Amino acid sequence: MLKLGIIGTNWITQQFVDAAIESGEWQLTTVYSRQLERAQEFATHNHAEETFTDLETFFSQGSFDTVYIASPNSLHFSQAQQAIEHGKHVIVEKPAVANQREFQQLDTALKAHPDVLLFEAARQLHETNFQRVKQQIDQLEQVQGATLTYMKYSSRYDAVRAGEEPNIFSLNYAGGALQDLGVYLAYDAVGWFGMPEEAAYYPTLTRTKVDGKGVAVLRYAGFTVTLNVGKTSNSFLSSEINGLRDAIVLDNPAELGRVTYRDADGQAHELGVQPDANPMLAEARDFAMVINDPTNHQREYLAWRQLSRNVNKLLFNLRQSGHLYFTGETRDAVK
Ligand SMILES: NC(=O)c1ccc[n+]([C@@H]2O[C@H](COP(=O)([O-])OP(=O)(O)OC[C@H]3O[C@@H](n4cnc5c(N)ncnc54)[C@H](OP(=O)(O)O)[C@@H]3O)[C@@H](O)[C@H]2O)c1
Repeated sequence: MLKLGIIGTNWITQQFVDAAIESGEWQLTTVYSRQLERAQEFATHNHAEETFTDLETFFSQGSFDTVYIASPNSLHFSQAQQAIEHGKHVIVEKPAVANQREFQQLDTALKAHPDVLLFEAARQLHETNFQRVKQQIDQLEQVQGATLTYMKYSSRYDAVRAGEEPNIFSLNYAGGALQDLGVYLAYDAVGWFGMPEEAAYYPTLTRTKVDGKGVAVLRYAGFTVTLNVGKTSNSFLSSEINGLRDAIVLDNPAELGRVTYRDADGQAHELGVQPDANPMLAEARDFAMVINDPTNHQREYLAWRQLSRNVNKLLFNLRQSGHLYFTGETRDAVK
């Protein structure tokens, strides 16, 4: 049984812990929180043995072999680096890191600790429907383009409107719609079509100077892919990948609940399967599979790392085209 430690005690960590336990591969042993009471509460609820409030002690004394990091985006890099240096495998929430320099520094740390594995928790990548869409795209006679829309009004935008600056709407914490929800669309685009030749982002800024919503246009040889992302508005549009007369229709490009192929006569064919009740179950299984037998799963691992690298690069290029820079990020140092 793999031993899990966690950083961050919000609802997403509970969801991942539930998935990990449901997979039958993991046990939660160790909880880190900035507050002892919070750590103990989370640990008691999930039958974990150890709690820590100091990160260095968590890594040096915790009995876990893998850490799941679900802290604010800007902390992912330093926490992942610290984990690698302590020989712990890392599952880091999306977006893994903020820019290419951080990505390269983690690659360097991984080279120095060749037994350590690092995964970006891009949950939809591991779900069956993601691969079903990819297979159907490969069968289209010609891709004419795609429009992918993921816009969910965030309850934290209420706080922005009330004059506050929650982490996800803050440049100090590498927030914004593109980093938060746009990462799912970036995974779709890069996973299904590869890296675009050109990419541009047109953000709509919030009072706190992050992108509350925006439109990205990715140019590929022969077609374009448009991404609509937003946290300050709801959209009920479905998403489409267009062939010639046919199309693939997605109810939601991040959750991939329903995936339909519309043939040249407009007839609908269901492509997808019913997603798991817990959308993190597939990734919890996949990460355990690789950690338990890295030699035989190196191909998958390296493919996920490369996809993660490309998504990181695309998100950064989009941000740069939209003149969006996080606090402390120098403009020349991130290519
Ligand atoms: N895969 C998914 O479906 C999914 C869904 C939601 C979020 N996420 C990702 O999960 C991560 C966390 O998102 P979230 O919305 O839960 O973030 P958050 O509420 O801002 O923070 C998450 C946790 O980090 C700790 N934290 C909060 N502020 C901090 C600060 N200033 N300094 C240090 N630690 C702090 C808190 O834990 P303690 O108080 O216990 O220290 C908190 O529970 C993000 O990277 C996000 O993109 C993924």
